[in-house]
Amino acid sequence: MVDPLLIAQGTTPLYLLPQMANRHGLVAGATGTGKTVTLQVMAEAFSRIGVPVFAADIKGDLSGISRPGTDNPKIAERVKKLKLGDFAFAGCPVTFWDVFGEQGHPVRATISEMGPLLLGRLLNLNDTQEGVLTLVFKIADDHQLLLLDMKDLQAMLQYVGDHAKEFQTQYGNISAASIGAIQRGLLGLQQQGADKFFGEPALNLDDLLQTDSQGHGVVNILAADKLYQSPKVYATFLLWMLTSLFERLPEVGDPEKPKLVFFFDEAHLLFADLPKVIEDKVVQVVRLIRSKGVGVYFVTQNPLDVPETVLGQLGNRVQHALRAFAPRDQKAVRAAADTFRGNPKVDAQKVITELAVGEALVSFLDEKGTPEMVERALVCPPHSQIGPITPEQRHQLMQSSIVAGVYDTPVDRESAFEVLKSRTGMQSPTPAVPGQPPASPPWYANIPGMSGGGRRGDNVLDAMAKSAARAMGSSVGRQIVRGVLGSLLGGSKR
Ligand SMILES: Nc1ncnc2c1ncn2[C@@H]1O[C@H](COP(=O)(O)OP(=O)(O)OP(=O)(O)O)[C@@H](O)[C@H]1O
Ligand SMILES: [Mg+2]
Repeated sequence: MVDPLLIAQGTTPLYLLPQMANRHGLVAGATGTGKTVTLQVMAEAFSRIGVPVFAADIKGDLSGISRPGTDNPKIAERVKKLKLGDFAFAGCPVTFWDVFGEQGHPVRATISEMGPLLLGRLLNLNDTQEGVLTLVFKIADDHQLLLLDMKDLQAMLQYVGDHAKEFQTQYGNISAASIGAIQRGLLGLQQQGADKFFGEPALNLDDLLQTDSQGHGVVNILAADKLYQSPKVYATFLLWMLTSLFERLPEVGDPEKPKLVFFFDEAHLLFADLPKVIEDKVVQVVRLIRSKGVGVYFVTQNPLDVPETVLGQLGNRVQHALRAFAPRDQKAVRAAADTFRGNPKVDAQKVITELAVGEALVSFLDEKGTPEMVERALVCPPHSQIGPITPEQRHQLMQSSIVAGVYDTPVDRESAFEVLKSRTGMQSPTPAVPGQPPASPPWYANIPGMSGGGRRGDNVLDAMAKSAARAMGSSVGRQIVRGVLGSLLGGSKR
């Protein structure tokens, strides 16, 4: 049995039970009420019991979790109030990530891994356009053209557009207007700098599931200040992570502690303008990922920003103060109060508006999975530093991190763009039979020196064939993923 995690203290200490931590959670409250510090306190607690954490850091103020805190009167006061006799400052092992590769190790995914459905959402495609994008992926798969980065997809779109007539018999109608819309969408993404995200080396999700030599879970912090400027990219990116984790991790049932805990800050962005079909699928992923041992904690200002179907799945709750000036605020206060299991000693609705900074209404799940009665409580002080670290400190941590050097240099291997570019004359596409080797030459056939015999050639060919097999292996793998994601995310659209 893993020790319970002390998070806050009301009339009694309030513990988050590790075996219930995969039943998800919510941290809500108006701006400046203590959400980030609460997240920090929870993340630290998970790290201490060896659970890795992933959290997006929108304001840069979560980076302090990497360093021990320092004495200050406010912390001292809280320690005293909560009678935390053995309180000691400590930092957590941290890996910094950054889609833009500036404030952390670059996080990348291949176009193929992102898949047509999420990409379609990112590009604001309508059903018809998304259908065409899906076909383009299928054609690439059938012809073993790897879609790794943005230019692969662009080349593929161009290629399919140019040969739309020939593809028509096998794949159906491919409208030039849809191809054009996708191309324009891609340009837009590129202008937001999102093209950096697509390519290799792609993130190996295992790298998020690390512990250090003391058995403490690594806290993965995604620098999201810049990413946050493009809310849709931010939301899609996190959705991609969640679904990839879901695909990747095996079923574990109800583990004694989670495999990973995922904090989703500014969670309202995930649900803003989300088409109903996708929202339903997000709800489904959130529900199902529990049995993979992943706990998802949504952090947001207003609990009403999270759809009710998702809210209903968030078992562990910390509600910081809400203001109640406007009618919508009052509605939020009532809604937030009503979601708690009532406590005759606590007038939740009234208390929510009175809570001090770092104080909250708290209810965690008990060992049977039932919500505890709501308590008014003071959140524990964090053991690590409150607020950001310096750029120098960040740089140092990046250099000594467990993934230093793994992702820092992009790799641009032979893929759709290179193959299509080198195909002079672009012969008409040969129909491919799914599951069969394509009639067209394999992608490495275009590499100079690949056709000759000779020992050196053999070795290279051998290596190339292996890498092709690997690539195919992963592309087949991705196809399955897309299939699953398709059923999860695509719904019955087609
Ligand atoms: N549990 C706590 N222990 C000690 N100090 C706290 C605690 N919670 C909050 N504070 C103090 O309150 C300040 C604001 O908290 P925090 O940054 O967590 O608010 P927030 O709700 O995340 O705000 P925003 O919406 O602006 O992101 C912190 O910088 C810290 O000084
Ligand atoms: Mg905050």
